[in-house]
Amino acid sequence: MVRSGEQVISNVVASQIATHQPYGGVVPELASREHLRAIVPVVRQALAEAGKTYESIDALAVTQGPGLAGALLVGISYAKALAFALEKPLIAVNHLEGHIHAVLLEERQKGNREQRFPVLALVVSGGHTHLYLAGQQGESWSYENIGHTRDDAAGEAFDKVAKLLGLGYPGGPIIDRLAKHGDARAVKFAISQIKHPDRRTASKNSAGAPPFAVFEGWEKTLRNAHPRFDFSYSGIKTAVLRYVETQGMAGFIEARRRALGEIAKPTLDDYLANCDQQALDLIASFQRAMVGDLVSKTLAAAREYGVATLFVTGGVAANNELRETFEREAPEHGIPVYFPSRPLSTDNAAMIAAAAYPKFIARQFAVMDFSAEAGMALQ
Ligand code: KG4
Ligand code: ZN
Repeated sequence: MVRSGEQVISNVVASQIATHQPYGGVVPELASREHLRAIVPVVRQALAEAGKTYESIDALAVTQGPGLAGALLVGISYAKALAFALEKPLIAVNHLEGHIHAVLLEERQKGNREQRFPVLALVVSGGHTHLYLAGQQGESWSYENIGHTRDDAAGEAFDKVAKLLGLGYPGGPIIDRLAKHGDARAVKFAISQIKHPDRRTASKNSAGAPPFAVFEGWEKTLRNAHPRFDFSYSGIKTAVLRYVETQGMAGFIEARRRALGEIAKPTLDDYLANCDQQALDLIASFQRAMVGDLVSKTLAAAREYGVATLFVTGGVAANNELRETFEREAPEHGIPVYFPSRPLSTDNAAMIAAAAYPKFIARQFAVMDFSAEAGMALQ
């Protein structure tokens, strides 16, 4: 529950990590079932922790997309039923806009209400590595995508590499903690630099409509045809695999996978006890390459578009090295950088409520026949 888009009254997260862990990644069918199981108790708990009743709610917000259709449909069906029964307005929110509003919510909570525009937001999660220029007109926000991943998202690369190294799921938090114990200069990884235009988005980008009304310089943006800032992370996963093969690490990895699989909730010491220095050096080098690429491309985009403020958000924004590197390098370019706190970096409901607030003020309510949009774009 969130009050006026700026105060979290309760924020309940039902984790599905234990369900998906044995499979080394999210299983869509299981995700839908877990949503169905959790949704009623989670909403009840959110109300109880806030000391509120269903009747005291002013409006309901729900994620319309992007995401797994089955899981989205569970949330949308329940939200529609609740809105209908309570006779309250329902607001459909884009998941990525939620991640961006996680930053705004906490900044407002700290008393910082002024954002300098243009804002550049890097949304970096298990499903997305997207750069958005964000503008505000009155209460409404609008977004222009200026870069995205061509293949794997950054979080997906963390998860796949962790799985490849026998570390379990989700990989990001484990790699984050282990990387500190390795030498990041040990293995050199080159991440693909993308020069050619993306055929999937080229036609959309040439449409020429202004991205939003109040974004100083948007005319310049369109006139000068800025380059795009796309990412690609499938190559580094293959490079890690090749390193593992050429260094003959497969036996150690299998032993680690088995040993960690027998521990219900492995601690950092359990992971460390099952990783030799070569594995730790590889982990640290992988993370350094990922962070280097995310930071350098984002800052290059920030300079190109003359942005005044940088937001970094989404599950991977919880990464310590990513935060430290942005915090060190963005101010060198005169750009303040904001992150959500770690609990609000990964998926949560408070960010969806926060993103709904401007729509609530503008009375942009969902029509009751709206449905899930698994590939929903942010505009
Ligand atoms: O935003 P999120 O909770 O869900 C999606 O919308 O995808 O992001 C989850 C992703 C996973 O890939 C996970 O491995 C990654 O975020 N992640 C991290 C860290 N914490 C979560 N990646 C790197 N370092 C972390 N500390
Ligand atoms: Zn997310």
